Parts: sequence; C-alpha cells; structure tokens
Amino acid sequence: MANNYDAWKVSVTDFEEQKSDYDKLLFFLRFGILAPSSHNSQPWEFQIDVEKLSINVFKSKVRVLPVGDPNDDLSYVSIGCTVENIVVTADYFGYTVSVVYEENPQIELCAILQFTQDHSKSIDSSHLIHQIKRRIVNRGKYEQRNLPDEFLEKIQKFSTTDHKVVLIQDSQTIADIGKIANYASIQLMSSYLFRRELSTHVKNNFTESYVGIPAFGMQIPGILSLIVPNLIKLFNMDKFSEKQNTALFTKYTPEIIVLTSKNNTKKDKLIIGRMYQNIALNAISQDIKTSPWGSVSVYSESNKELQKVLNTEFYPEFLFRIGYNNKDPHHSPRLLVNSVIKK
Ligand SMILES: Cc1cc2nc3c(=O)[nH]c(=O)nc-3n(C[C@H](O)[C@H](O)[C@H](O)COP(=O)(O)O)c2cc1C
Repeated sequence: MANNYDAWKVSVTDFEEQKSDYDKLLFFLRFGILAPSSHNSQPWEFQIDVEKLSINVFKSKVRVLPVGDPNDDLSYVSIGCTVENIVVTADYFGYTVSVVYEENPQIELCAILQFTQDHSKSIDSSHLIHQIKRRIVNRGKYEQRNLPDEFLEKIQKFSTTDHKVVLIQDSQTIADIGKIANYASIQLMSSYLFRRELSTHVKNNFTESYVGIPAFGMQIPGILSLIVPNLIKLFNMDKFSEKQNTALFTKYTPEIIVLTSKNNTKKDKLIIGRMYQNIALNAISQDIKTSPWGSVSVYSESNKELQKVLNTEFYPEFLFRIGYNNKDPHHSPRLLVNSVIKK
C-alpha cells in the first residue's frame, strides 16, 4: 500500500517527541509541505542547517511545470505558501522566523528562514496552526452568501505598499473576471504540450502517486477518473466545460480576491504566496473555502485584461474564488518530508 496521504497524519502533539534541533526543524517542515501548490507539483526543497538554526528553501529542479509555468511564477507562489505554513508552525512552538528572500530568479534558492526561540508555546486554540490540516482547495459551487464583514476587513488589512488584497464583490465584475479566467484556461489548454504536462499531474482516484491532483479534487468519481488523464491529454476539456465554468463565476462565486504586486518580481510572488496561504488559513477557520485560478497568472494577454478590469497599475499575481461550500473532497497526496530534503 502506498502511503501517499500519510503526510497529513502529522499532529501538533508529536512535537514533544522531537528532541534535537534538527528534528524540530524537520517537524516544522511536515506542516510546511501541506501547503497548496500549482498542479500539486510541490515545487519545494529544503536544506536544514542545524548550526545556524535555519532552513534554506529552494525551488525544485524537477517538480516544476516548464510548459504551464515557464517563468516559475506559480512555483514561487506555491513556495510562498509553504514558507507561510512553516512560519505559522514555528510561531506556535515559540520560534520567531525571519525570512530573507533570494531575489535572483537565476538561482534555485528562494528564501532563508532563520529561527529564534523567543516566546513560549502557544496555548491559543484559535492559532492558525490548527487550520493547516483543515485547509483544502474546494473547486465546487459556492453558496450565494456574502462573507462576514469582519473577516473581509481583516484580510484587506494584509495589503501593504507593494502588495494589495483586491476584493471583488460586484456580480458584473465577477462575471467579467470569470470570462477572462475561462478564456485564459481555454487558451492554455489549446496547446497539446500544456495538456500533456497537465495530464501527467491529474491522477485517477486510486493513484499511489505522491504528487498531482486526484480527479476527486475536481468532483470526478471513481471509474470515470481512470480515463480523465487521457481525456485531458487528448481534448481541450476547458472548452467543453466553458458553460459550467462561466456559471461557476456568474452563479456560484459571491466573491473573488486578486492579490496584486507593484513590481512583479520573484520576491513579490513568494510574498503573494504567503499572503494567499494566510488568507486561506484564516478563511478555513471560519469554514470559508478558496479555489485558485492559476491560468490568469501565466497567460499574459488575460493578465493584462484582468489588470484593466481591476483598474490598477499593480500586477495581478494570483486570483482565487472564495466562499462557502461544505462538501470537501479528500485531501490530495503529499511527498513525505524526507523526500523533499536536499541531499
Ligand atoms: C500557485 C497555485 C496555483 C494554482 N492554480 C490552480 C488552478 O489553476 N486550478 C485549480 O483547480 N487549482 C489550482 N491550484 C490548487 C492546487 O491544484 C492545489 O493546491 C493542489 O492540488 C493541492 O491540493 P490542496 O490545496 O487541496 O491540498 C493552485 C494552487 C496554487 C498554490
């Protein structure tokens, strides 16, 4: 039996068993790797430096998407998500993490995390660590119910001079953005190479793979899931599902959030990933689900369209639907932590 879902079995109570600094840092990573990533590619690798009590976070040379994400935009956002999980976890156990971002896109290093044990372990039951295992991407239909004002106010305060949380609630604008997002997906899917790459990441529901998205994550049941990778490779499925995807935005998306940045650099994408993950954790604490739409980040024509609709000079880095849907799929698989430690 494959243990491709075992990564989710980590528990905060297991920390007590971690005696050495190495084991403690490794333990933080076990929560880090539960982060979302594009195509569930898990494009991260880690190097633990016990002497310095630090972790170097790298972009994997292998688990990236050369066709779907040629500039690694989505990989950096994904790596930002894992960094946020690590920071949240370490904070819970009494460590402050200072994050130094590597700005050069030519090298794999993305961030250096420096840990300082400077406060006591949290006893706060509302600490975000408790949401890491609950968070899941829910691609379903969201209820036409507005999100609580105090939640929206809280996440809008995450905006900084260089990074903005842009909230879209107006139904016409949501429909316009839906059109742009769907167009981007259809355009990307019109390339055979894109479909071939995606088809290696979409798995049947019985998969023993540690990466990729089992079809149940897209509400596709057992037997049908067996042919889904082939269907994706052969056909532009987004064209077939254009009508449903349009309705997803017009009828079943009460709110959209776009995270934008001023400078559109590698560092910005890492920071945007951290923002998304923090929003997703805050959201799930109130049973609110999120669902990213990566195609608009990488298909530049649509990205410019989105920028026009948002009426901003800032670069739209990451778009996600947000709302209520209480039918969650099973978690997606994860590599075990030892497989993502850089040798
Ligand atoms: C940067 C990024 C881009 C993503 N883009 C998409 C997308 O375009 N469509 C989609 O359905 N899911 C997208 N996702 C969600 C991933 O597929 C999902 O995180 C992954 O399969 C792992 O599942 P989980 O988040 O439920 O654990 C994206 C996630 C990230 C972090």
